[in-house]
Amino acid sequence: MNISVFGLGYVGTVTAVCLSKKGHNVLGIDAKSAKNEAINRGVAPVIENGIEELVKLGLNNGTLRATESVEDAIQNSELSFICVGTPSNLDGSLNLEHIIRVCEQIGKALSAKSKYHVIVTRSTMLPGSMEDEILPVLENASGKKSGIDFGVCVNPEFMREGEAVYDFFNPERIVIGELDARAGDRVAHIYQDIDAPIVRCDIKSAEMVKYVDNTFHAVKITFANEIGSICGKLGIDSYQVMDIFCLDRKLNISSHYLKPGFAYGGSCLPKDIRALTAKSAELKLRNPLLEAVSESNRAHIDRAVNLIMGLGTRRIGILGLSFKSGTTDTRESPSVALIHRLYEKGYSRLFDKGYDITVYDPSLQRTEMDNLPPHIASLLTLDLEDIINNSDVIVITRQDKYFERLNEMITNDHTIVDLAGAMRRSLMQKGSYVGIC
Ligand SMILES: NC(=O)c1ccc[n+]([C@@H]2O[C@H](COP(=O)([O-])OP(=O)(O)OC[C@H]3O[C@@H](n4cnc5c(N)ncnc54)[C@H](O)[C@@H]3O)[C@@H](O)[C@H]2O)c1
Repeated sequence: MNISVFGLGYVGTVTAVCLSKKGHNVLGIDAKSAKNEAINRGVAPVIENGIEELVKLGLNNGTLRATESVEDAIQNSELSFICVGTPSNLDGSLNLEHIIRVCEQIGKALSAKSKYHVIVTRSTMLPGSMEDEILPVLENASGKKSGIDFGVCVNPEFMREGEAVYDFFNPERIVIGELDARAGDRVAHIYQDIDAPIVRCDIKSAEMVKYVDNTFHAVKITFANEIGSICGKLGIDSYQVMDIFCLDRKLNISSHYLKPGFAYGGSCLPKDIRALTAKSAELKLRNPLLEAVSESNRAHIDRAVNLIMGLGTRRIGILGLSFKSGTTDTRESPSVALIHRLYEKGYSRLFDKGYDITVYDPSLQRTEMDNLPPHIASLLTLDLEDIINNSDVIVITRQDKYFERLNEMITNDHTIVDLAGAMRRSLMQKGSYVGIC
């Protein structure tokens, strides 16, 4: 394919030389002439393992060259990757100045082109950037319509600097956010002989994934550092501790716990995080990430309370009281915390009248109810049908098998508040659906 690459920094140079190595005809273009000249002299404008050889190879076999002309780049390619910088503004917000500028130039050049062209951003942009900010610029500058005259995609770059060439050829997955399949097909074609799953999704999800990756990586590093600081103060070998931690591939280094849902609870997590952060404070350490965990969990319960209150309905049925299915343990259950918060918010006023909040939990038998505070125990019913019939809002607090029967029981008047991601909106046959995540 004939491909143009806008921006010859780390991402752009690696993208350009790796695509030329794959046999595509690549035209690179940077706002700085020195970078274009460097490529045309066989010198990489950035330092990366193995990049110098690939620039020379591309020049020698005629699959790589740089140009100063946007018109040249657009007329002589079918697809353009945008790899310009997206730095921070002083207040931390995202600066799209470079990408908007380059899209004005590309749009202008597109106005003189009759053939369909695809524009793909590799630059990191917040969700909504492409559709709300970039697309209007391209349409205005070109006088053409996206989806008809040209296509747009978001194809985030996941490389690590230093290992970027290796990462380009050996990605964990290739993400293509597409406005339509025609544009996405063209991008997917470029990667057809790279051995990695190609995930095609909507544009906003592709934009978001990059932030999720980087945020998670930053959280991992910070987590390890904060744990390390506590270990250090306690005279424990933090490297050995983290090696042992990483051996658990079921719960620790795995996808477990990585699905959005309701807050954590139970007899261990809340208590142990409190104990560790109290110890950290006693050691006079500042560990803001660990300290924020309990607060974040409370904020998530607050979100659920606000969501339910916002519906303005009086009769609420809560499904699930113990902190997870298959256990009778209600200690520090987020569901119990939720009911307490609804109480505080005024739901207690109507309790005398009977059925303002009811709770269903098949794992809790009558005997266990004795362990619950009386005002919570009095809300429990073991009859699912009863709770559905006597509630306007059904709150799902955890994953449970019996939810499969919900569809048969609810009516169009019911609202399902799904805090656990247990029922998908698309699977609901009746009623309305509100998710927390
Ligand atoms: N560096 C990384 O490891 C990495 C990894 C993944 C994603 N990203 C993202 O990719 C984007 C680029 O990052 P980078 O590190 O390669 O940036 P960079 O600053 O190294 O390179 C950007 C290049 O774009 C050029 N440029 C600016 N305006 C231009 C224009 N109108 N026309 C042509 N060229 C223009 C600049 O001169 C510069 O050479 C950013 O959004 C970044 O967040 C970076």
